Amino acid sequence: MKILFILLCVIKLISGTPTPIVLWHGMGDTCCLSFSLGGIKVFLEKNIPGVYVNSLKVGNSSIEDLENGYFMNPNQQVEYVCGLLAADPQLKDGFNAIGFSQGSQFLRAVVQRCGHILPKIKNLISLGGQHQGVYGLPHCGALMHPTCDYIRQLLNYAAYENWVQNALVQATYWHDPLDDETYIHKSIFLSDINNEIMANKTYIQNLNNLDHLVLVKFDNDTIVQPRETEWFGYYEPGQSKKLLPLRETKIYTEDRLGLKKMDKEGKLILLSTVGDHLRFSDTWFIDNILKPYLLN
Ligand SMILES: *[C@@H]1O[C@H](CO)[C@@H](O)[C@H](O)[C@H]1NC(C)=O
Ligand SMILES: *[C@@H]1O[C@H](CO)[C@@H](O)[C@H](O)[C@H]1NC(C)=O
Ligand SMILES: *[C@@H]1O[C@H](CO)[C@@H](O)[C@H](O)[C@H]1NC(C)=O
Repeated sequence: MKILFILLCVIKLISGTPTPIVLWHGMGDTCCLSFSLGGIKVFLEKNIPGVYVNSLKVGNSSIEDLENGYFMNPNQQVEYVCGLLAADPQLKDGFNAIGFSQGSQFLRAVVQRCGHILPKIKNLISLGGQHQGVYGLPHCGALMHPTCDYIRQLLNYAAYENWVQNALVQATYWHDPLDDETYIHKSIFLSDINNEIMANKTYIQNLNNLDHLVLVKFDNDTIVQPRETEWFGYYEPGQSKKLLPLRETKIYTEDRLGLKKMDKEGKLILLSTVGDHLRFSDTWFIDNILKPYLLN
């Protein structure tokens, strides 16, 4: 196995530069600090010699990038990132993308909204993304941010108020299963990218243009509630106990986003690993993500 891997890397080196990789961090993380995605970037560069990695910075500094993960409207973040990607000459021949936690659904939005005007996006890897939203009080991210408690309290009583939707990123993927109608019509981000209101054909087409959509679920995730959302599963509407796996949800059965089609075509990959939110070993990552999806 090891020899095969080395051989793959050598072939890759001879045949040209590896496919670039774009990273988008989660809430409470930043693009560039070494204990955050800066560390992942170094890891990728070490394991894929010559690879170009763009760890997205939403803002003019790492601190702004961190703050924007809480307070910048995701629709504006997605638009900003579409601009960054289009302007990066090193991505012009296509790239792979890896989202961490909320960065996963934001990257999916980038694919859906801008895929047709960007270079080819080959594989989108979602690590612990909240594709159907969340309903529960999350712990906070890697950095303990003073805004954490404030966020919980707000979400609890006012997630769908217009000003909260516009002022707090996490409210835009708050999905109250007891009140699906309000979520569908008041969420300014998630219900739109999930084609809940109307089926945007561009979204479907762009998502289907991926080679693979790889969804990774963390089996012992204590941060994301419910963890099935990482595979596009969710609570059955009207209650908050029974969970529907992806293939029984409306988004899949009505094929509102083309996921069923992608599943039939072998483009939808569901992976799981033991461990808490975003906790994976280097070996797991190399065997399950890097070798199959990043050496293209
Ligand atoms: C970058 O800085 C400018 C000037 O202060 C500001 O207007 C802009 O919003 C900042 N960009 C982001 C994405 O925060
Ligand atoms: C569908 O999405 C595309 C890409 O974001 C957008 O340009 C278009 O206006 C949307 N269509 C509708 C009917 O909203
Ligand atoms: C993690 O989740 C798996 C799958 O649900 C379970 O079998 C295992 O016991 C869990 N491990 C811990 C430490 O909770």
